[in-house]
Order: sequence, then structure tokens, then C-alpha cells
Amino acid sequence: MQWWKEGVIYQIYPRSFQDSNGDGIGDIPGIINRLPEIAALGVKAIWLSPVYRSPQIDNGYDVSDYRSIDPLFGTMEDMERLIAGAEKRGIRIIMDLVVNHTSDEHEWFRKSRRREEPYTDYYIWKPPGGRKKRPGAASGKNPPNNWTSFFMEDAWTFDEVRREYYLHLFHKKQPDLNYKNPLVLEEVQGILRFWLDKGVAGFRCDVINVLWKESLDDGKKSSMLTGLEHYKCREGNHDILRRLRKETLDPAGAFTVGETAMVDLAEAKLLSDEARRELDMVFYFDHLEVDRRFARFVPKKFRAAELLKRLAKWQQGLSWNAVYLENHDQSRIVSHYGCDAGAGQKDSPWERSAKILAALEFTLRGTPFIYQGQEMGMTNFDFTGFDQVKDIETHNFNRLLKKFHLPLWLRWRWLRLSSRDNARTPVQWSGRPGAGFTEGAGPPWRGSPWLGSPWLGINGNYRELNYETQRDDPGSVLSFYKRMIRLREQSETLKYGAFKPLLATGALLMYSREDDTPGGTGEAYVAAFNFSSRRVKLSGEGRVLLRGNVVISNLDKHGAYDLVPALEPWEALVVKAR
Ligand code: GLC
Repeated sequence: MQWWKEGVIYQIYPRSFQDSNGDGIGDIPGIINRLPEIAALGVKAIWLSPVYRSPQIDNGYDVSDYRSIDPLFGTMEDMERLIAGAEKRGIRIIMDLVVNHTSDEHEWFRKSRRREEPYTDYYIWKPPGGRKKRPGAASGKNPPNNWTSFFMEDAWTFDEVRREYYLHLFHKKQPDLNYKNPLVLEEVQGILRFWLDKGVAGFRCDVINVLWKESLDDGKKSSMLTGLEHYKCREGNHDILRRLRKETLDPAGAFTVGETAMVDLAEAKLLSDEARRELDMVFYFDHLEVDRRFARFVPKKFRAAELLKRLAKWQQGLSWNAVYLENHDQSRIVSHYGCDAGAGQKDSPWERSAKILAALEFTLRGTPFIYQGQEMGMTNFDFTGFDQVKDIETHNFNRLLKKFHLPLWLRWRWLRLSSRDNARTPVQWSGRPGAGFTEGAGPPWRGSPWLGSPWLGINGNYRELNYETQRDDPGSVLSFYKRMIRLREQSETLKYGAFKPLLATGALLMYSREDDTPGGTGEAYVAAFNFSSRRVKLSGEGRVLLRGNVVISNLDKHGAYDLVPALEPWEALVVKAR
């Protein structure tokens, strides 16, 4: 039995989790202080977003030294204390491995741009070339190809020191490593070993399916990300993953989950197939884009049938799923598929829908990941303008949309839904000023220049929506999450049973989880969800399917149900049908 199939994993985005020194930025000692709360939730591991030394232009996803801790977050001693403290509570630590790119302030890049050996070819350098001169390109120099970055800019920047272009699939301060140079993979193996020796249990691997740039030819113009076909999930990428696994990860029994950009089911299957030994599981995005176009940037109507279709595709298509509804790059799920009206209030659409989403997540097949704050139903930010947003991706998109002359109100309407800062506002621990996140300063926080203001605005609903008010309330979202975690832990069918889509109409969605193994128990759960604020009548088939003893109800229903006539607004009902 693999521990990562049995247990739940909790993601911490350190700068927003808990500040311990009053500088307005969460830190490692803050995490250590909150270990009791994390343990009380019942999770088995923490995935820690990057805490390595970094100029922080992408909040640590721009690493300048993989073997030291950024002073913002603490020291290596703090990190060692965290690993040991977590271990005492039966919690493993999973580090974020960001090795598609480094920061441009990494020593390797500084030396590479000066052509110092052996670093000359650690990055992807090219002389100006190929393309016709474009407006805006530096005088007389053209980028080597037409690729665009994930942040929607040119993927090449000219370096005045080396007098060549370098590739960056993300920000220009995040140059891509060159995996065609075998020394780079050796460096990565060294980094993995360094952290495994410190006692970490594994890695969440950042954009791990785009490492291998097969060719640097021009990309198809039609693609949203020009160039993608030359570097997404190429054979060389699979080779890299297999080598890392065989030579470094497997000998240490390490766990891996890969963040896999723009992946489709066939690619995800290859990456997470147990026999191929590449990754234990992958994060894909399809199920979160039911009501979005162009990845997640333009809203469209939510349909339960579409969600069920996408869930079924991945649940049945992969042998094991990484099940998640939120992370530091997504909006808050209760503001997305749920309804955040009445945030912090009892029996509001907010409370009901936060619980529906928990019930959904914990009855899917795979390893559930909880993102900090999700367990108390934290909502999207309440900012009113771009000046309160810090995320570089949001600002880049805003600039891009502005180029297309989209009016401010529309840009704001779209980007406030998709901005990564929605998930990055500080965790709301209490109703005191600073929300128990920081003791640093009182209001007014936003835009305040003094030291100690939270680095990003705290959501104004912290007074009603916070950990303290929910902790001892058995009817709270937090208590519901704890119950879901325990329930899954105790049920082999919920962990390992087959997923079967049953039906979906309008806002209603039903599926079952069944132990259908030969000689198995035959146990079956039927889950039904109403994703709307209207009562939904169940017609023939739905009524027949939803019979049995209530196992989960976000409306506190109990006992045996026969022919359930309707689902209440935002109701989740799971019955044991067999
Ligand atoms: C991943 C991270 C994201 C980061 C990007 C570049 O998608 O989750 O936060 O900006 O990679 O490292």
C-alpha cells in the first residue's frame, strides 16, 4: 500500500500561510507554529510551495539557489525543524521542484551569460536570427523563433552581456534550462539528493512536461501558445523523468506529482503509468475549465453535465488521479463552481456550496489535495482594482488585453475571476486585525507602505470567515472537511473503488463509486450534487439510483432514504446503495 494513495496532501503557499515575525510575509517558523492545526485536519503530507532563495518575481518559482532558504522565509535550521516537527506528527514534507527554469539571478545564469565554463550551455541561447524584424524588437535584432511564453510575452529576451537571445517559457527573469546539456540533469539529481538527504518524502514537479525542447523551429500560428508542439511532452522529456526516477527517486522511495501544463489524457497516461516509472501522478486542468475558455481566462456558463463528462474522462482514464480543486494558480473553488454569497454565515449558499465541493473532492478516486484555506471555504479576493493585485501573470494578461483595446471594466471582470492572487490572499486564522496571519500592522493594509502590512490584501470577510470561528463548530466547513478526510480514510471503496458516471442535467450531477473487483465486497456509494441555488426535482432514474443509507449530507440528513424526490439548493447527498 502506497502512503500517497491512502492519505491526503495539504498544500502550503508559505508567503500567505502564517507570518511569525511581523514583516507581513508568511514564513517557515509560522508553519511550524501551525503544525497542530495541520495535524488536526488529518492530512499525511504537506506540499510546500518554493522556499528556496529567490528574487521572488514569481513568488519563489524563480529560484536563485536550490540549496538555501530565502531569508524571507527563515533559515535552513528552520527548514530542518519543520521537517522534524512534521515527522513527529506523522506528516511528510514534499518540496516544490522548479527545474524547467531558474532565476536569471542564479549563479549558473550569471556565468552562462559570460560564457564561463561549464555553464556556457546551461541555458538555451541563440544568436539573433530567423524572424523578420518586428516592431518593438531591439534594433536590428530578431528573436530566433516565434514562440510565446506562458505569460503571453515573447519567449525570447536579448541579453546585452552575451549578445544573444535566451529562451524563457515564463517570465524573462525565469530563463529555461538546457536539458540537451547532460550536466544540467546531473545538477538536478544533485538537488534532489540534497533534499532527500534532509528527509523530504518527495517532490511536486513544476511544469515538468516541458523540459525537453525538441526543436527550436517556429511554432504553428494557430496555437494559443505558439511553439507548444515543439516542447510539450516530447520523448526526451519522458527519458528525463525515467532517469530521475531510476537513478535518484526510486532508490530513496520518493514520491512525485507532476504539474503538467496543457496535458491531454493520452499524455497524462504515459506520464503517470505505473509501469513506465516516470511520475506517480499528474496535475491536469481540464476539470477546472468547464466554465472557462482560453485556458482559464474567459468565463462561460457552467454545466454540470460538462463537469461530469470531464471528471469521468480522467477518473476512468488514469489508473490514479491527483484530485484537487484549488492551488496557488487557481481561483477559490467556492467562488468558482460554488457560490460565495453569505461568506462566513451559517446555512448560506457559501457554506452549503463549500461543503458540496468537499463532498465532491473526497468521493473522487485518487489522492485528494487541499490548498490552504480551502478547508475553511476561503473565497476569491475582494480587491477593486489592478493596483491591489501583485501577480505578474495577471498584470501581463492585463497588458495584453489592453493592446487589443479591451476596456478596463471588461479586463477587470475577466481577470478578477482568473487572477492567481485569488488564492494567494493571507490565510484567515482569526477575526482579529491581521486575521491572525500577521501581528505586524493594523488597517489600512492595502497599499500601505509600512513594514508589517500583509504582502497582499487580506479579504475583508476575515471577520466572519476564519479558522477560529469554525474550529469548534461541528457544523462548520472546516469540521466537514475533517469528517470527509476521516470518511475516505476508513473506506476502501471511496479510496479504490471504480468511478461510474450516472447522470447529469442542468445543475445536477450523479456518480457512483463501486467495489467491482471480482470477489470484492460489491459495496457502492451513489453521490448526487445540486450545483445551483434552485431546488432540483429528481425524475425517474435519479430517484431510483439515490436510495440507501445517508453517508454524507451537507444538510445534516440522516438515516435511510428511499426515492429521494428532490435535491435542495446546493445540496450534496451521498448514500450507500449497496
Ligand atoms: C507553475 C507554478 C506557477 C509558476 C509557473 C512557473 O505553473 O505553479 O505558480 O508561475 O509554474 O514556474
